[in-house]
Amino acid sequence: SQKSSLELTELSQAQSLMKPRDPLSNKGTYGRLLCICGSEGMAGAAVMSAKAAVRCGAGIVDVALPRTIYPIVASQIVEPVHTLLDYLPDGTMLSDSRSALQKALQKAKVCLIGCGLGCGKETARIVCEIVSDSKVPLIIDADGINVLAENINILKTVRVPVVLTPHPGEMARLMKTTVEDVQAHRFEYARSFAAQYNVILVLKGAGTLIAEPNGMVHLNPTGNAGMAKGGSGDVLAGMLASFIAQGNDPVAAAVGAVYLHGEAGDRCARRFSQYAMLPTDMIEMLPGLFLELE
Ligand code: APR
Ligand code: MG
Repeated sequence: SQKSSLELTELSQAQSLMKPRDPLSNKGTYGRLLCICGSEGMAGAAVMSAKAAVRCGAGIVDVALPRTIYPIVASQIVEPVHTLLDYLPDGTMLSDSRSALQKALQKAKVCLIGCGLGCGKETARIVCEIVSDSKVPLIIDADGINVLAENINILKTVRVPVVLTPHPGEMARLMKTTVEDVQAHRFEYARSFAAQYNVILVLKGAGTLIAEPNGMVHLNPTGNAGMAKGGSGDVLAGMLASFIAQGNDPVAAAVGAVYLHGEAGDRCARRFSQYAMLPTDMIEMLPGLFLELE
């Protein structure tokens, strides 16, 4: 029996992710994160998730993305390396790109997949392949989750830690129900899904819940409605992946990243207003926040 199944996240849990960096460390110490994010029409998702990941301390960020959007992404963020993917006119990925992606995955310590990825047939194939082959922890967001919703049994073949970060709409797709039903049973559904599929389930929205496979659920106290804007989720995904890349336990990374993301949002609301604050402002708020927590 569970002694306490619901826990309110405390600042100290977020702080525990901000361990002092060893003066003799190098970028290899802080992990290599592969982000498979972005597509034509959603280049910004790749930019925001990668920026958030770099800001949270990951050693190397590799953004795998269609060659066509590479110039846009690289004009907005210069720190990552890139794995460029080429496609045939029929939408299938060239075999050279497929092997480049496999190589990038082998080099990575953790992989974030899904932000702004799109929902094409080829995308679905890649997501399924990564989910069943990955030897490193996976963070699956947005369109990665939408692909999983259509191939839910693939989750049962996974042998690595998996973090899913659905908003209520994505959770409804995963569970083949409605958003209203999800919102009426947030705790129950997050908890049972995490246990049934052996994943860490981050159910986003006001009062984000982080459910562990063992039945434990964490309730996040930070955040506000100014974050209800496209892009906020990409920022969270990048932050969470970055903390896992640095060797944090995936549950601790999820609980802490959600807290810090909300706290950054709360600071943005005070500085810029809930109306005017941008998801990218939340990334720019991280340095000041970390200076206080470090
Ligand atoms: N209070 C606190 N936090 C909130 C609130 C709120 N009222 N509203 C949103 N948030 C937080 C969520 O908890 C989450 O961390 O903002 C983030 C929003 O994430 P997403 O819903 O995933 O939004 P995002 O991905 O940035 O943009 C929406 O995702 O699924 C696609 O098609 C969808 O294009 C759309 C895009
Ligand atoms: Mg999203």
